[in-house]
Amino acid sequence: MALSKSILLLSLLALSPLCFCQQSNGGLSPQFYDHSCPKVQEIVKSVVAKAVAKEARMAASLLRLHFHDCFVKGCDASILLDSSGGIISEKRANPNRNSARGFEVIDEIKSAVEKECPQTVSCADILTLAARDSTVLAGGPSWEVPLGRRDAKSASLSGSNNNIPAPNNTFQTILTKFKLKGLDVVDLVALSGSHTIGNARCTSFRQRLYNQTGNGQPDYSLDQSYAAQLKTRCPRSGGDQNLFFLDFVSPTKFDNNYYKNILVSKGLLNSDQVLLTKNEASMDLVKKYAENSQIFFEQFAKSMVKMGNISPLTGSQGEIRKNCRKVN
Ligand code: HEM
Ligand SMILES: *[C@@H]1O[C@H](CO)[C@@H](O)[C@H](O)[C@H]1NC(C)=O
Ligand SMILES: *[C@@H]1O[C@H](CO)[C@@H](O)[C@H](O)[C@H]1NC(C)=O
Repeated sequence: MALSKSILLLSLLALSPLCFCQQSNGGLSPQFYDHSCPKVQEIVKSVVAKAVAKEARMAASLLRLHFHDCFVKGCDASILLDSSGGIISEKRANPNRNSARGFEVIDEIKSAVEKECPQTVSCADILTLAARDSTVLAGGPSWEVPLGRRDAKSASLSGSNNNIPAPNNTFQTILTKFKLKGLDVVDLVALSGSHTIGNARCTSFRQRLYNQTGNGQPDYSLDQSYAAQLKTRCPRSGGDQNLFFLDFVSPTKFDNNYYKNILVSKGLLNSDQVLLTKNEASMDLVKKYAENSQIFFEQFAKSMVKMGNISPLTGSQGEIRKNCRKVN
């Protein structure tokens, strides 16, 4: 009698952390595909590794796709849908047009995963895993990815235009857009550290070089010799699509040079530099991450899990798409 009671108690104790874990992850769990598709993580990693070996920038592009997915109706792969029937693709939205990339890599992962376990793994989970693997391949931290997201049956062009921060938004607007997604100033500063890899187009920062506030003056919070260098390939007009490294010191390495650059007024985007100049809490975090990359890495991993858990579709919501570009 006493024995069976203690066994009952022990099994309750053993189960309870699982329940807490599922609650804080919105019903997601790293073990979600352990039985239904045990090879999924291996498959995602190998395709991402191949793509990044071919082009280092792809790590950055996949990381950004996940962000642009999660800020629009949650991490539901809505960004992957092409226009067709009633769907107006988010790929046309201002933050994505001529900019979002990596869709072919997601297609390649999806078809490899479908071959191994048909209609089992969501495109939303594939994108989340690809973002983690991209970070690791670029030299950044690793983390366990909660899984079990399902795919949206619709897209939101307006959500994409309105929810994703623009590079010339004010600090307050950017922070508000993060808060609306349940993310705080710590998440904002840590996740912006993604700009330690990847590129931006001239059109994303031209305003800073020539006419920051509409009075014909440049942004003086940008180092003026760095600005002069940028102007050679980002003229007053033309060259909109010319590419520049977000972190000119180590453009393909995931490290904390992004924060070091900001401290010397060499953040490329206005949204990067304002993290230092417009808010005290955020300034302290920039300094902390510039000083200690381990603290940055640990927070980045935590904030990525938090971002990846934004309003997932679970249970019988949504669907498991067969092709990430269209609803079933
Ligand atoms: C805080 C507000 C943010 C703003 C205003 C912002 C804005 C931008 C802009 C304008 C670009 C360049 C796009 C282009 O010119 O084509 C860019 C690139 C990028 N962003 Fe952000 N971003 C923000 C936060 C984030 C977050 C949270 C992540 C990921 C967790 C992220 C990851 C990236 C990456 C990796 C790139 C390079 C992409 C590539 O080379 O293909 N960004 N971002
Ligand atoms: C921000 O950039 C957009 C697109 O280039 C432009 O239309 C808008 O006027 C800019 N906003 C501010 C406040 O400068
Ligand atoms: C700067 O921008 C303002 C407002 O957008 C515009 O009226 C003005 O002509 C621009 N000045 C220059 C020198 O480009």
